[in-house]
Amino acid sequence: MKIAISGKGGVGKTTVAALLARSLTLRGVQVLAVDADPDANLALALGAGDRQPTPLAQRRRLVEDRTGARMGGQGGYFRLNPLVDDLPAELAVDLDGIRLLVMGGVSSAGAGCVCPESALVRALVTHLVLASDEALVLDMEAGLEHLGRGTARGVDHLLVVVEPGRRAVATALQVRALAAELGIERVWLLANKLLALDDLDYLTAALPGLPVLGHLLANPAIARADRDGQPPWASAPDLLEAAGGWLDRLAGQEHTPLRSHPPGGRG
Ligand SMILES: Nc1ncnc2c1ncn2[C@@H]1O[C@H](COP(=O)(O)OP(=O)(O)OP(=O)(O)O)[C@@H](O)[C@H]1O
Ligand SMILES: [Mg+2]
Repeated sequence: MKIAISGKGGVGKTTVAALLARSLTLRGVQVLAVDADPDANLALALGAGDRQPTPLAQRRRLVEDRTGARMGGQGGYFRLNPLVDDLPAELAVDLDGIRLLVMGGVSSAGAGCVCPESALVRALVTHLVLASDEALVLDMEAGLEHLGRGTARGVDHLLVVVEPGRRAVATALQVRALAAELGIERVWLLANKLLALDDLDYLTAALPGLPVLGHLLANPAIARADRDGQPPWASAPDLLEAAGGWLDRLAGQEHTPLRSHPPGGRG
């Protein structure tokens, strides 16, 4: 199963990615977590402390060899299908059973675009063949950039994390439209930071056609865990039970496929 997590900035994507990754390992699934946010912090959410993996962005020779692209350059042509099968073994670090691979970002001002690294992550997500006891969890950059680049094209499930508020809803609507264009059929709403349960009603009314995968209340224990450099489940283990419920729903596939909503009424 390949799962990508998207949504507006700060809504809780990385928190959700970490919860899903840990909850999968608790079920005996081998997890490859991919942090595709140039401002990477999934390692922190997984409680990695100092065990930070070397980002792809710092593996210049490898990225250039695989993609044929010059790092930091603009535009240009990339190899469409760079070799990716050995990347997890070569680049991922093991964080208590979760293998984490980090894309990374520009390391200095004016250094240019992370396009080749993105192309490699997209190839990894699309072409990596997973065994039945393996899963890939992709934590994405806020907003629409990775959907625009097609990074999530190959995923089985796209989770749109939304907090109760018009700005997060507006981003979710755009994510939904781009997901339809990419042909991702299973797109789910993950409602986060709810102040009360009627917030869930607000979100489902604002986002029709997005089935609810689950929800989390605004929970000071989650914010405190971040402050203390701990994974969110350290002080609130019930969060892993909630994430287990999300996995059941994903595995059950009780999902009405998303209809295409392309702008201009095509299709
Ligand atoms: N349910 C919640 N209750 C309280 N705080 C939360 C909750 N979910 C996430 N947070 C906190 O909100 C902040 C942002 O969360 P997180 O980093 O997971 O969001 P994000 O969407 O990945 O952000 P970014 O767009 O910067 O990548 C963190 O401090 C996190 O601990
Ligand atoms: Mg994040």
